[in-house]
Amino acid sequence: MSHKQKIVTIDGPSGVGKSTISRRVAQALSFTYLDTGAMYRAVGLKFKEAGLDMADETALRKCLDSISLNLLPAGEGSENVGVILDGRDVSQEIRSSEMSMIASRVSAFPAVREKLTYMQQEIGKKGEIVAEGRDTGTVVFPRAAWKFFLDADPEVRMHRRAKQLRSKGESVDEEELLKMIIKRDRDDQARSIAPLCKAKDALIIDTGLMTIDEVTQTMLKVIRKELT
Ligand code: DC
Repeated sequence: MSHKQKIVTIDGPSGVGKSTISRRVAQALSFTYLDTGAMYRAVGLKFKEAGLDMADETALRKCLDSISLNLLPAGEGSENVGVILDGRDVSQEIRSSEMSMIASRVSAFPAVREKLTYMQQEIGKKGEIVAEGRDTGTVVFPRAAWKFFLDADPEVRMHRRAKQLRSKGESVDEEELLKMIIKRDRDDQARSIAPLCKAKDALIIDTGLMTIDEVTQTMLKVIRKELT
């Protein structure tokens, strides 16, 4: 473990319980929770509000250069990290279904990935990070000491997401939601740069038949075995 970074990476498709589990693992270890998806969402919101022509690479890079992005720990009673974009609190705004799809779209642009990967590596430099996303074990932190890939059946994930959205007062069309989940998986897996895929050295956990608590405890056991 000497040549490895004291970093936990947790990757997988949407709706596998990644965020809740990552937050709990980070809390239990007193590590910092790095929600990389929130960063892609914030960039998506910035592009959307700028009315950017995404085919215009120069405009896109210019917009990225001017971005100011800060992540804050989740507030009291909140599931999600706080996100400050250009000085404005966008923590709630970036969590809509529309922003999920936009984030997935902008995450395919090399300029976006370059910028966010660099920012994430800077944040992770000192170690003691639990990084959650799609490529944290493969691209962002290939030398992380502990890598996990969480997976579950799309139907299971759809039901979890539906529950989450309903609890926020959003109405849900389950069939439509399932289609969106499958499309987002496909897009995230198909992009040519840093696609969603399992790191060779990641431990794969199917969260479909386990509770969040069971998954968290399984991971903590693995990590603590080697934690010095
Ligand atoms: O985890 P999330 O649902 O908040 O992520 C939103 C989108 O951002 C996801 O569809 C793909 C993209 N993403 C990415 O490409 N790489 C990451 N490390 C994290 C998220």
